[in-house]
Amino acid sequence: MPVTEVSHPLFARFYTWFSGVLDRHGMAAQREALVDGLSGRVIEVGAGNGLNFSCYPPSVAGVLAVEPEPRLRAAALDAARRSPVRIEVVGGLADRLPAASGEFDAAVVSFVLCSLPDPVAGLREIRRVLAPEGRLRFLEHVRAAPGGWARAQDLLDATVWPCLTGGCHTGRDSVAAVEAAGFTVGPLERFVFPGGVRSPISFCVRGEARR
Ligand SMILES: C[S@@+](CC[C@H](N)C(=O)[O-])C[C@H]1O[C@@H](n2cnc3c(N)ncnc32)[C@H](O)[C@@H]1O
Repeated sequence: MPVTEVSHPLFARFYTWFSGVLDRHGMAAQREALVDGLSGRVIEVGAGNGLNFSCYPPSVAGVLAVEPEPRLRAAALDAARRSPVRIEVVGGLADRLPAASGEFDAAVVSFVLCSLPDPVAGLREIRRVLAPEGRLRFLEHVRAAPGGWARAQDLLDATVWPCLTGGCHTGRDSVAAVEAAGFTVGPLERFVFPGGVRSPISFCVRGEARR
């Protein structure tokens, strides 16, 4: 049987709380913008506890939400029941998606590329399941500009951070990974979140890429 699960019970519990805090401090608006204008069939990879689900517009015909962590997947199932758009939640990993080639009009990832063991392999697999005109929408925390914050990110990523956070890395250049997987990156918005107070996960990007 192929592996389709990861298990991070403490992180799952922490993230369920922490992601709600971030949303209340402004991340919910970024989630709305992330999926704004999407239509047709959508695959969301690493859906977590399903915080994007309530943001999908009615033009979306259905969402296949892939989440490998069982506790987060259970929370995503709850969120899917409350969503106005039809959402199917399944287990699975980014680099082996349970989907046929070209099946989706759009793919969505948020705060996932930081956690994939091989982000380029996961992105190539996402590209596989997109239709020729398909779009990837992404919202990620990424590497800071060269300087003190980037050095702090490197130090954290080489030591405790990934062990405490389900494999997350603070200092990845995820836009470069999207390009390396064969996508053409379109409009991007870089922002520091939340404004004012900075941390190693403050440096964010939201954007779109064409298959
Ligand atoms: C920081 S959480 C983000 C959750 C959600 N996308 C959000 O925006 O709140 C990272 C997510 O990536 C998932 N993940 C980790 N490894 C994965 C993999 N190999 N394939 C797919 N998802 C993965 C985790 O289980 C978790 O749900």
